[in-house]
Amino acid sequence: MTPTHAPAAPILQARSVSKFFGAITALRDVNLQVGKGEVLGVVGDNGAGKSTLMKVLSGLYTPSEGALLFEGGEVRFDSPRASRKIGIEMVYQDFALAGNMSIHENIFLGREVKKPWLGLPLLNKKAQREQAQEHLNRLKIHVKSVDQNVEDLSGGQRQAVAIARATAFDAKLVIMDEPTAALAIKEVGKVLDLIHTLKEHGVSVIIISHRMDDIFYACDRVMALYQGTNFAESLIGNTTRNEVIGWIMGTKGNTTGLAHDSVAA
Ligand SMILES: Nc1ncnc2c1ncn2[C@@H]1O[C@H](COP(=O)(O)OP(=O)(O)O)[C@@H](O)[C@H]1O
Ligand SMILES: [Mg+2]
Repeated sequence: MTPTHAPAAPILQARSVSKFFGAITALRDVNLQVGKGEVLGVVGDNGAGKSTLMKVLSGLYTPSEGALLFEGGEVRFDSPRASRKIGIEMVYQDFALAGNMSIHENIFLGREVKKPWLGLPLLNKKAQREQAQEHLNRLKIHVKSVDQNVEDLSGGQRQAVAIARATAFDAKLVIMDEPTAALAIKEVGKVLDLIHTLKEHGVSVIIISHRMDDIFYACDRVMALYQGTNFAESLIGNTTRNEVIGWIMGTKGNTTGLAHDSVAA
């Protein structure tokens, strides 16, 4: 597909990426690019390959064919750790937080703030609490206290903490797979505003969502996958909800009458 709406300097590019699982082709020659500070929406029906593509971009899967370029140079990830190292973070659908631990412990899980004491790295809880609070402030995330246990938070607050965790260490690109799917309606807006805040900080975001409201509120550009291939893409201002819903169903052109509430909901 010709990248007609390509950002000037993509931070991440997938070029002709295919992914096979045995006889199943999950992705075929897929191209994707996202610019610095750009929010890219990825849409597609169930089984279109969205999650597989994100797992390739975040290093959980290696592509069967094709290449990834980060800031113009080819990269190969053998694990999510490798992609994280260069600033790509994935926020998983199930949040992946430790419920019985505090907010600051979750944000720093595996990357605790240490201060040397008699030559031993000791956990510096005070510094960690402060840094967690500063980071939440930067992202305009409001919690009662960073000492609150994550299991006592609402779904939206947990999602916010998961995003704070993903962005606490110089993330350049955050990938979110259906970040609003499990949230109450009144919490969705806060998560979408958080995406705007990330953009203000120059962070790039790729967001998968089946909610047209999310896509049209949060994204600069939208691309549709259909049966594992690129189907269509557009700057958000040059398309409509109905057109994008049509893409999800594999139709282009005249989309009159395709405003299915079940898809738009
Ligand atoms: N680990 C896997 N093993 C085999 N097939 C898979 C695996 N992951 C995904 N698939 C298949 O790849 C296709 C794309 O799946 P997926 O990326 O999950 O789609 P989406 O996220 O768009 O719903 C589907 O046909 C799915 O069954
Ligand atoms: Mg999926």
